[in-house]
Amino acid sequence: MLDSFGRKISYLRLSVTELCNLRCRYCMPEDGVCKKSHELMLTEEETLSAVEAAVSLGISKLRVTGGEPLVKPNILSLCRRAAAVEGLKELCLTTNGTLLPSLARPLKGAGVRRINISLDTLDKDKYAYITRQGELSRALEGLRSALDAGFEKIKINTVLIGGFNDDEIAALARLTLEYPLDLRFIELMPMRENSEFGEAAFIPNSRVLAALPALEEQPRDGGVARLYRLPGALGCVGLIHPISAHFCAECNRIRLTADGYIKPCLHSTAEYPIKGLDFAGMKARFERAILAKPEWHGELSAASASRAGREMNQIGG
Ligand code: GTP
Ligand code: 5AD
Ligand code: SF4
Repeated sequence: MLDSFGRKISYLRLSVTELCNLRCRYCMPEDGVCKKSHELMLTEEETLSAVEAAVSLGISKLRVTGGEPLVKPNILSLCRRAAAVEGLKELCLTTNGTLLPSLARPLKGAGVRRINISLDTLDKDKYAYITRQGELSRALEGLRSALDAGFEKIKINTVLIGGFNDDEIAALARLTLEYPLDLRFIELMPMRENSEFGEAAFIPNSRVLAALPALEEQPRDGGVARLYRLPGALGCVGLIHPISAHFCAECNRIRLTADGYIKPCLHSTAEYPIKGLDFAGMKARFERAILAKPEWHGELSAASASRAGREMNQIGG
């Protein structure tokens, strides 16, 4: 379906839980989230109906997100059923990777084709700092399990934070020399929770180009990242630049939160509830939400925070 600015909406980001086994500083509060009662969250049946309704309107790519989607007890059943929805071409998932050692193969078996894994540093102390409670070795084991499970594509997401990991640009990019994966540097987005980061943390990812002069530009893959490659590398280095050059004009996505709100734009408070609706009701709500998708998300900078109205873990990125 086309939105009112002629953009073809074909990608649904489905957050299946707000909960997470980590507490990344740019994403969620230290105390975690106040667990909402089950009745407020979409059931598995409602989630599947919503996916079917979205697919009937032209959604062909579904990305499962969170919080951390792999803490959701019924994640395999959800993925298996979503992958079987007629008309859906691609099921992908974004995870922090720590639970992949036991879940990578079952997820592949359930129909997940591509996996994106968050990894901001290769230093164990810095990893413990940024995630507030994570162990780097677990994330790396998860990455190894994903590589062994044979997904079509694996991407690493690295949020670039000035004064934190900008000294690791080369080391992180070198992963693309060793492994068949893409590594994408993402500009830090100013969510409510990010006030603890000073202005110096918000650096443009043109820093990556300055740090790695050998990068050669590559054709885009349909995603939001500009792609580059180190000579001889097995995968690409990507730059996702929501701050220095927003990509709203080519935005093809909508979001559904775990508590059943369609968000036409990541950085807007506009939300459309679908909890309790039947298939026809959900379809009508998706149509309304797509038609209400704003042209762009408005000013976004260190000084002008997101108007998302939720933390990242409640939206799914
Ligand atoms: P691919 O399907 O591999 O292209 O994945 P993706 O980049 O769409 O998904 P992923 O979950 O890996 O997200 C990567 C980063 O892009 C995260 O930091 C997201 O918050 C950010 N992102 C995704 N969609 C949007 C968007 O519409 N607007 C903005 N500003 N950021 C987005
Ligand atoms: N800015 C940029 N990226 C973020 N992510 C979470 N919060 C932010 C933020 N404030 C990223 C995570 C994850 C993806 C879904 O979103 O690193 O990889
Ligand atoms: Fe969890 Fe992902 Fe948020 Fe980190 S970025 S706290 S791993 S949901």
